[in-house]
Amino acid sequence: MSNKKLYALFAVFVIVATALSACGPAATQAPAASKQVEVFSWWVGPGEADGLAAMIKIFQAKYPNDKFVNASVAGGAGTNAKAVLATRLQGGDPPDSWQAHAGEATFAYVDAKQIQPLDDFFKSSGFGAALPASLLPLISKDGHPYSVPVNIHRSNVMWYNPKVLSDAGVTVPAGGFASYDDFFAACDTIKAAGKICLALGPAWTAEHLFENVMIGSLGADGWAGLWDGKTDWASADVTKALDNYAKALSYTNSDAATLSDWQPAAQLMTNGDAAFNIMGDWAYGYFANPAPNGLALKPHTDFDWAPPPGTNGVFVFLADSFVLPVGNKNAAGTMDWLTVAASKEGQEAFNPLKGSICARTDCDQSKFSEYSQNAAKDWASNQVVGSLTHEVVGNPSWDSKVATALGVFVADPTKVSDFQSALVAACKSDGACK
Ligand code: GAL
Repeated sequence: MSNKKLYALFAVFVIVATALSACGPAATQAPAASKQVEVFSWWVGPGEADGLAAMIKIFQAKYPNDKFVNASVAGGAGTNAKAVLATRLQGGDPPDSWQAHAGEATFAYVDAKQIQPLDDFFKSSGFGAALPASLLPLISKDGHPYSVPVNIHRSNVMWYNPKVLSDAGVTVPAGGFASYDDFFAACDTIKAAGKICLALGPAWTAEHLFENVMIGSLGADGWAGLWDGKTDWASADVTKALDNYAKALSYTNSDAATLSDWQPAAQLMTNGDAAFNIMGDWAYGYFANPAPNGLALKPHTDFDWAPPPGTNGVFVFLADSFVLPVGNKNAAGTMDWLTVAASKEGQEAFNPLKGSICARTDCDQSKFSEYSQNAAKDWASNQVVGSLTHEVVGNPSWDSKVATALGVFVADPTKVSDFQSALVAACKSDGACK
């Protein structure tokens, strides 16, 4: 072969090789670098983690190049998580997204300029239209939506052990006990039968019980009025409600403060040591989910439920949502997470295991338990009020003053008048009575 021919052959080889490398990069390209999406929540305990795991599974299948980092901090109601998050935010180290309650908690992050508005996402995904109209104002400020609600939890549920009740000869009326007096009469019978009437856990569960007793004693309007200034914290009605709370505490287990969280308290009821436990419906997930995370109990047989005393027809709610931080490291990954959290598929996977109902109004009810199907009906038809413990009502500084006063009171529930004075002062210093 002549030099000329060799040169021509070489030139053809170069052209073909260049052309091949230009049209086939996708086949040979290395996969896009995996980017971590750190999501912060307190869903790590028994019954709490199952729903999150189901949503993570969908997220990883949909976005294989995103690496989910589960930054959950244990402790029901976010008792520990909120403190850890506050430190991280102060140090300029936000997670890529975090769990925020709709209502006062979300407003506080907006006011502190820690989260970004999600107008574009709401518009492009149509998510806003899939939410109940009543929820939008609780995640919005000045008309801009700031978080993606993933659920609605009911906080007013009175779980009970049917066997403990039937052994003691106590029946829960349809719709629950009409008043705390009726409930206390049942408690006396249960106590006489040698059982704890009302299982209670550590401090935050005492606040959870507090709000339930207040709502059951003052009524839904009376409760709502405490937060907008229409109900007088110094009134005789509030004194009566606080008396009920003191009496309810007298029927609880003496080791409540030493229990690690809500699950051991709930388990006192399922074990048959106690008759009742007033807790939100995340407890449903814990009771009914399969082992090892859940207790795999049978509804109506191993445990049953009714509204806490005086709250038939009232739905005390809270909603968990996720946010897009200011200054986050991976905005695209966060949007992927928010897309799953907002989706019908994500919510239908998460909520049946979490014990909550979808924040979306279009979820397929056949995927839910009988408990949750009824909760969805009640959410649509009951009088709805917000939870304090779970940050729908009462701004964070007000809530923290109430919690402090409550801690003092729980240690000595004879001091009703001191407690009431502290609550009046909290409303003046941090709340609606300013
Ligand atoms: C609430 C939260 C629920 C559940 C509960 C118990 O504050 O909104 O999703 O996790 O605490 O930890």
